[in-house]
Amino acid sequence: MIIAIDGPAGAGKGTISKLLAKRLNAVYIDTGSMYRSLTYKVLRDNIDMTSEELVAKALKEANLEITKDDRNLLDGEDITPYIRTEEINKNISIICSYPSVREQMRVKQRAFAKNNDIVMEGRDITTEVFPDADYKFYLDASIEERTNRRVKQNEELGLESNYDEIYESIKNRDHSDMTRKYGALKRTPEQIYIDSSNMTIEEVVDYMMEVIK
Ligand code: DC
Repeated sequence: MIIAIDGPAGAGKGTISKLLAKRLNAVYIDTGSMYRSLTYKVLRDNIDMTSEELVAKALKEANLEITKDDRNLLDGEDITPYIRTEEINKNISIICSYPSVREQMRVKQRAFAKNNDIVMEGRDITTEVFPDADYKFYLDASIEERTNRRVKQNEELGLESNYDEIYESIKNRDHSDMTRKYGALKRTPEQIYIDSSNMTIEEVVDYMMEVIK
């Protein structure tokens, strides 16, 4: 079984997908963390990120893994604590815009479904990675609510969290996620649309479980 979930930054996809996967005894895959890991490598190794060729080459040479307990490994090193910074948020959009990067990511993402039931979340999962998924959801929330959630999440992680800065960063990412030529975040008639602005996490998960049953 494949459950695909797309939606904008901060809509709660991570928390909700994780809980859903637990209830369904499926594997949870956060595809944003794969793009984050690549962005981390590009920044760390001073790779020219304006070159699609060099970024695609860096991905080809990298060993990106997601462990069962949801840690992100880059060439065996646990980089989970370093991939959710504002520096990564500011630089990730250009890396996500490259077709040759997205193609490689999709191959990796499809491989996760070979031996497992999966709950996979991202931006192009319902449309490009698994257009034939068993269930497709679009999880949304207002930008104010999404900013509030990210501020709280960052505080819990001990990261900097300035409301205005995060609001702007989410707005910019929404714009580039929704307007890029290749792999844009889109709403389609096949997705089940959920606006979680006024719903608790449990309510969203319960609703999804009802749909799936
Ligand atoms: O879900 P997130 O905020 O951690 O994702 C980080 C960035 O990665 C986001 O701005 C867009 C990009 N992304 C993407 O282009 N395609 C995906 N399937 C998942 C994430």
